[in-house]
Amino acid sequence: MSNYRIIDRLVLDSVAERNALIAGLFARPASISPKYFYDELGCALFCAICELPEYYPTRTEVAIFRDYRQEIAHAAGAGKQLVDLGAGDCCKAASWLPYFQPWRYLAVDIARAPINKALSGLAPEFPEIEMLGIVTDFARALNLHADLQDLPATFFYPGSSIGNFSPEEALAFLVQIRGHCGTPGSGLLIGVDAKKDKRRLEAAYDDAVGVTAAFNRNVLAHVNRLLGSDFRPEAFAHRGLYNEAAGRIEMHLEALSNQEVSIAGRIRRFRVGERIHTENSYKYGPIEFEALLRRAGFDDIRLWQDAKQQFCVFYAE
Ligand code: AVI
Repeated sequence: MSNYRIIDRLVLDSVAERNALIAGLFARPASISPKYFYDELGCALFCAICELPEYYPTRTEVAIFRDYRQEIAHAAGAGKQLVDLGAGDCCKAASWLPYFQPWRYLAVDIARAPINKALSGLAPEFPEIEMLGIVTDFARALNLHADLQDLPATFFYPGSSIGNFSPEEALAFLVQIRGHCGTPGSGLLIGVDAKKDKRRLEAAYDDAVGVTAAFNRNVLAHVNRLLGSDFRPEAFAHRGLYNEAAGRIEMHLEALSNQEVSIAGRIRRFRVGERIHTENSYKYGPIEFEALLRRAGFDDIRLWQDAKQQFCVFYAE
């Protein structure tokens, strides 16, 4: 018998999602939400990105976790509920289980299959921990009040995924997390990519072997399957550019020629050089992000960084 449960709280309005996707494609400038990167191939390509020499965030965060494991564990405390936001394969949180020793682990993700698979492996390994998978689109609205017990909880949001929200959205999301931290001893452990040299940043989002380019173009193949459109991914070039004024990497797909694409029974003409905006990845100075945490209502804040100060790990209560 399995000793974990999956609770499906996903409410999908597929008509509204489809309409928003089509509206983005016909807008000028056109855009596609980055959530469409993550079909099966997109997930595999993202895992490959994390292995690239140029893509420093994943390995830098892992190194900070490794180097400051005891300090971070001491700050967050043990024996609480551990809430893993965007758990995926639960791999990052799994490395913390022996340190946080949670009595309950809540793996939260929009995709059911990966958390189901991960929990089926983790549950027998940690039989003392109650394991719960919660399928929900937490980026749209975080509401785990029905799933959390009225006891301290550590929220875990690694990987600098907060950077894929705009600063306003990030603040609203942090406020929602803070709203779940009413019980004393609750807090948030979060990884945030730091502002740095433009060349270093652009290399991380436009690698030499073209994995990020494939990841970006693959969104068009995914959109074709969803909408029955006829985008030719090879007719678009990948662009990964640092917008210094906005403090964000922008990913775009740039039309290599004048072309027509049939989308949901209508024609969208793209001129050569015209771009589809596919992602923003905001970078924060440590002081800047600490201020965001304070605005969200956190006041006891700790920070760990690597020696080159490329990445930040915060624990905030
Ligand atoms: C998931 N997210 C934190 C990644 C990032 O760095 O913004 C997504 C990504 N896009 C291109 N490379 C990685």
